[in-house]
Amino acid sequence: MGFPVDRPRRLRRSEAIRSFVRETDLSPGDLVQPLFVCPGRKVRQEIRSMPGQHNLSVDEAVADAQEAGALGVAAVILFGIPETKDARASGAYDPQGIVQEAAAAIKKAVPDLLVIADVCLCEYTDHGHCGVVQGTEIVNDATLDLLARTAVSQARAGADIVAPSDMMDGRVAAIRAALDAAGLAGTPILSYAAKYASGFYGPFREAAQSAPKFGDRRSHQMDPANAREALREVDLDLEEGADMVLIKPALPYLDVIRQVRDRVTVPVGAYHVSGEYSMIEAAARNGWIDRDRVMMESLLSIRRAGADFILTYYARDAARLLRR
Ligand code: PBG
Repeated sequence: MGFPVDRPRRLRRSEAIRSFVRETDLSPGDLVQPLFVCPGRKVRQEIRSMPGQHNLSVDEAVADAQEAGALGVAAVILFGIPETKDARASGAYDPQGIVQEAAAAIKKAVPDLLVIADVCLCEYTDHGHCGVVQGTEIVNDATLDLLARTAVSQARAGADIVAPSDMMDGRVAAIRAALDAAGLAGTPILSYAAKYASGFYGPFREAAQSAPKFGDRRSHQMDPANAREALREVDLDLEEGADMVLIKPALPYLDVIRQVRDRVTVPVGAYHVSGEYSMIEAAARNGWIDRDRVMMESLLSIRRAGADFILTYYARDAARLLRR
C-alpha cells in the first residue's frame, strides 16, 4: 500500500484520537518514591546535588510518605543515613536502626503504602563499601550473613518488601533462607538483579554519604558494556528465589529492560537513578529544557521499554501531573 493511502498522521490529529491509540500508559501506581532517612527530628535538609530531594528525619519521612500515598504512589523505598558507621555496618541490621525505625513509623501512619527497604551495607560501613573488606577486597561470602540479618531486621520492623542492591553473588538465596527461618516466608524479595557500575549514582552517594573511601564498585557491579550478562544475573536471582527483578540505571539501559521483560514472567522494575534526575533538574534550572515534559517522557520511555514499575525521585511530581 503506502502513501497516499497510508497516512499515519490521521491518528495524530487530535488529543482525543492520540489518547485513543496510545500504546503505553503511566500511572501513579507504577511509581516508587525513594526517601533518605537520617537521625534527628524536624530535619529536612536539601541534598546539594539533588535539588528538590532531602535528607529527612523519621517524622519528616512520614510526612513525605503520607503525601506520596495520598497521590496514589505505590511505594516508598528507604535508604538510611545512620548516626555512626563502622567496618561491619552494624547500623544496617540494628533492630533500632534508622531504616527499621522509619519503616515502622511509615507503616503505622500510612498502612496501605508499600514500604520497600534497600538492603546494602555501603551506607553503614565506615569505608563506604557494600560488604566486608579485607585489604582492598570486598569479600563475598562473609558479607552474605550481614545482608541476610539486615533484610530480616527490616522485614521484622515492618518493611513489606526487601530489595538487595549490593550485587554480592548468592545474596538472594541467603536472604530468602534467613527470612524463611525467621518466620517471614511471606516477605517478597525485589532483587536489583542487573545493577551496573554507573557514573549516574554520583548524586546518590552524596545524599547517602556512601561514596567508597578507596577503589570503586567494579568488582561487584556490572560492566556497562554487557547485556547478555544481565540476563544471566536475572536467571540466577530468580533461581535463588527473587520475586521481582530490577534494572538500574534506567534510561541508558532501556535495551536491557526490554530483553529482561521479554525473558521472564515476574514483575520487572527499573530505577531512574539520581544522576538521571539531577541532569534533568540542572538543565531545567538553566532554562534549557522543559522539566515536566522531559520528566514525563523519560518515565514513559522506561515503561515503553518494558518496566512494570519505576523507582524515581519524580514519583510524587509525576503523580501530581498525572492526577490533573
Ligand atoms: C546501594 C545503592 C546505590 C543506589 C541505590 N542503592 C548506590 C551505589 O551503588 O553506589 C543508587 C541510586 C541512585 O543513584 O539513585 N545502596
